[in-house]
Order: sequence, then C-alpha cells, then structure tokens
Amino acid sequence: MENCIQRTTKDLYLDLMKKTLSFTLWPEPPISIETFIYVRPLIIRFISSIVSSFLKKFRIHLVYERGYSALQRTEGMIWPGYADTMIGLKRLDNLQFCLETVIKDGVQGDLIETGVWRGGACIFMRAVLAAYGVDDRRIYVADSFEGLPKPDVDKFPADKGDKHYIHSFLKVSKDEVENNFLKYGLLDEKVVFLKGWFKDTLPNAPIENLAILRLDGDMYGSTMDALNSLYPKLSVGGFCIIDDYALPGCRKAVDDYIAQQGIHIEKKEIDYSGIYWRKE
Ligand SMILES: C[S@@+](CC[C@H](N)C(=O)[O-])C[C@H]1O[C@@H](n2cnc3c(N)ncnc32)[C@H](O)[C@@H]1O
Repeated sequence: MENCIQRTTKDLYLDLMKKTLSFTLWPEPPISIETFIYVRPLIIRFISSIVSSFLKKFRIHLVYERGYSALQRTEGMIWPGYADTMIGLKRLDNLQFCLETVIKDGVQGDLIETGVWRGGACIFMRAVLAAYGVDDRRIYVADSFEGLPKPDVDKFPADKGDKHYIHSFLKVSKDEVENNFLKYGLLDEKVVFLKGWFKDTLPNAPIENLAILRLDGDMYGSTMDALNSLYPKLSVGGFCIIDDYALPGCRKAVDDYIAQQGIHIEKKEIDYSGIYWRKE
C-alpha cells in the first residue's frame, strides 16, 4: 500500500483525475438499452423503442449490464458508458509520464490529441499543466465532433470496409466536450478546439511546434492525415503516442509513414494497444 503522506498534493490530484476521468473509481453501471440500439436489427429497435417509451411514462428506464472485467476497464479495452476517456489507466499514466518528461527537459511545444471523443485525455493534459503551473503551452483538441468519417477508399485503400463511421456512440459534440472541461474547472484560453475532419483542419492549424502528439483516430486515413500534418512539427525530444496500434488500419498507417519518411524510431509498448516513441 502506498503511503499517502509521502505523496505530494500534485500526485494525489493527478491520480484522482485519472481515476475519475476513466471512471475506474466506481463499478461500471448498467447502460441504457438505447445506447447501442443503432447496431441492432430493425425489429429489435422497433420493439425496444415501443417498450422503452411506454415504461418511461412510469419513470422506468431499460438498462443492461455489460459484464466487463476490472482489467478490461482499467486497460481501456472497452467503450465505456460513463467515463470521460476510453484510454484506460495505463495510457493515462503514459500520457502523464510523457508530459512530465517534456516539462522537466524543457522540450518546446504545445500538446495535441487528434481524436478526443468526450475529451478526457485532453482534460488530463490540461490538469497536468495546471498542476505544474505551466502556462506557456496550449492544448489542441482536434476532432470532427461528429464521429469518424466514411472511408475514403480511393485515397486510403486500407480503410476499405471500416465501419467506425456508423457508431453514433463515437459522436460527441464540441459543446459536450467543452462542458466536460468545465466540470473539472479546466476550460480556459489554453484549450484550443480544432473542429472538423483532420484532412481539413490539421494542415493549416495555427501550430508552430509540438511537444506531445497523441493520435487516437482509429482509422488508417485519420492516422495518416494526422502524421502527415503534425509529425514534422513535433520537437526533437517530444513524444508521439499512438493509441490504436492494435487496430490494423492505424498500425499500417504508422508503419507506412515511418517507412516512407525513413525515420528511425524505438517503439515502446504501453499496453495491449498503445505505443509511443520519443523523437530523435
Ligand atoms: C476512439 S475515439 C477517441 C478517444 C479519446 N482519445 C479518449 O480519450 O477517449 C476517436 C475519435 O476520433 C475522431 N475522429 C476519427 N477520425 C477523425 C477524422 N478523420 N477527423 C476528425 N475526427 C476524427 C472521432 O470523432 C472520435 O471522437
């Protein structure tokens, strides 16, 4: 057991933020029957909508247990019902490590996540800067805020058949993300939203250099667009973090980019999906 007296207020705050943002302080409550109804057959959707509307008149809501293990939740293996981030504790620990390292080593640049969903990983980056009293770095929050794009198979054949775009669960509006920052008292002018498809927003984003480049766009095209626009802006000594290396499209984009650019990197594993490296 850790001795909390020996831990600083900063450590305790950041630890609490990680557990709160990932919702791992609490057991996963059941989720509404409506949450993933869009992937069910039409007849099931029809019946549950009738039953659900009827029961709501009596303030009764239909929910179901998802039965995930503690490991699946802490390792970020699920799409959580209530967390503000789906990246899990190990990838949050990694983000903290990378951020603390660039602060300690004075690596120049701002921070970005491409693919933010409910915003939890970006909120955590803002919390780390606040905890260290750093006020000369911005956090770019890049997302369509409308979910993932349909695959552009002419441009990115590796995305053929990708179905992420059907998931309305992955559509979180900018207002909702802003509100999530507000809930933690962490919305200020250092937080810059880049709303739109990466192919449109990233090439001309007002970013000079980056110390942290965190990619979480799931698809080949989303990963490649972000790498093409942003990797050249990553400072030497900065960290590139890939959330979705377990997904074949993302993995291929990273491997293709590294091969095309002839970059030497030493990939480090974070957990079953995340990898990172430090730019040399
Ligand atoms: C898996 S979620 C990100 C999870 C998030 N990092 C977290 O902390 O929980 C993927 C996000 O990427 C966004 N996205 C994927 N491809 C995109 C693209 N090409 N342009 C804009 N947003 C994109 C989606 O809207 C979605 O919010």
